[in-house]
Parts: sequence; structure tokens; C-alpha cells
Amino acid sequence: MIAGNWKMNKTVKETKDFITKLKKHALPKNKDILICPPFTALSKASGLIKGSNIQLGAQNMHYEVAGAFTGEISPLMLKELGCKYVILGHSERRHIFNEDDSLINRKIKAALNLKLKPILCIGETLDQRKKNKTEGIVKSQLLNSLKDIKDISNIILAYEPVWAIGTGINAAPEQAEEIHKMIRTLIKKTYSPKAANDIRILYGGSVKPENIKELMKEQDIDGALVGGASLDTDKFFKLIN
Ligand code: 13P
Repeated sequence: MIAGNWKMNKTVKETKDFITKLKKHALPKNKDILICPPFTALSKASGLIKGSNIQLGAQNMHYEVAGAFTGEISPLMLKELGCKYVILGHSERRHIFNEDDSLINRKIKAALNLKLKPILCIGETLDQRKKNKTEGIVKSQLLNSLKDIKDISNIILAYEPVWAIGTGINAAPEQAEEIHKMIRTLIKKTYSPKAANDIRILYGGSVKPENIKELMKEQDIDGALVGGASLDTDKFFKLIN
């Protein structure tokens, strides 16, 4: 899977231009191609991707289906717009908007209830890595975010080391692989060998056309969650290929 997280970028018009241009390329059928535009562009994007193999995801949601939550967007609303996926627990949500594992856990359960596939993001900060806390942080984020969830077959994981996001400094392929392997082992122990084998673990953090090939060669890296480089159609197409 190659997923583009547009973050707070692109107007409706820019979204239209991006998708129109991307659809002119011959997109491979053997890959899941996903774009996650901002909420305001989802409706337009949903119409434009019809008939292509581009799939649609959102970047966040509330855990309730409806109610008095000013400014929030519900999973039901995303579903209606044709979203199949929703990014949850992104480090920007965790750090800028103070989301914690228990809130993310509620959101994952709500997404699964409505048959939206959560892309759960986990990852350590530079300070935590320097203090040798990477494994502990990733494990606790993972297990706490998945608390009481028995079936993870519709969940996708994304390991995104915070120090690699938007910095231009990606994790070295072997550095990322070490954590991906650890995550898969943890899934095997907590769930089952089948769950560990089936789950997709994406890598995110300064993925570019120049470094994606080396990252994707690693055994436990099953795709990429891309920010900056996913905003440009030509770069995104290169990443997909
Ligand atoms: P960049 O690719 O811009 O580093 O962002 C990664 C990311 O946060 C994807 O969710």
C-alpha cells in the first residue's frame, strides 16, 4: 500500500487537479493506492476517483456517530463520502492536539464498528530514541491503542518515527526494519501467527522517490505512508511504481 497523507494541504480545486492528473497515469492494479485529503476535499475526491483504483481515506475522526461535538467529523460522515480508511493516532494528532492512546483506542473501535479501516500510527520522538526508549514507547502505544480489540484483521499499522516526519531525514531501511520486525513479533505474541503474517505495517517519515525502493526491500515493510512527497502527482506516481 502506498498512502498519501495530505495533512492540511490542498483546496478542492487543487484536489481536482491532482486526481485528474494522477488518473492519466497507468496505475498498477497490484497495489493499494490511497489518498487522504482534508475533510473539505473528500466529497470532490470521492466523485473523481470513481472507476479508478485510487482509494479514499480521512486523516482523523471523532469516536461518536453524531452529537454535540462542535467542529468534529463522525465516522458515519466519512463512510457516506466513500472513505474506506481513516488515519488514527498520527503523531501530529498526538503531539499538537494532545490525543492519547485511550482516545485513539475509542476512535479505532468506532471506525471498526462502521467498517472503516483504521491506519494506526505509532512512533517515538528523537528524545525517546536517544534515551533508548523506542521499543517501550512503540509497544505501549500499540498495545494501549489496541486495548480490548480482538480482531485486528481490518487494521493497518504505520510506524512513523516522529524525528523522521517532515524533516527530510528518513529512518535507515535497517533501522525501520528492526522496529517493524519487533511490531510483527509483538502482534504474533498478542494475537496469533496468522494475524502477524496478515497485518500490513507501513513505514512513514520522509519517504521520497529516492529512498522508497530501499525501504520497501525490507521484509517487514509492507508499504508507505507519505506526507510531503505525496502532494505532487509526479512524485506520488513515482512512489507508487
Ligand atoms: P513526511 O513524508 O512529510 O515526512 O510525512 C510523513 C507523515 O507524517 C505521513 O503520515
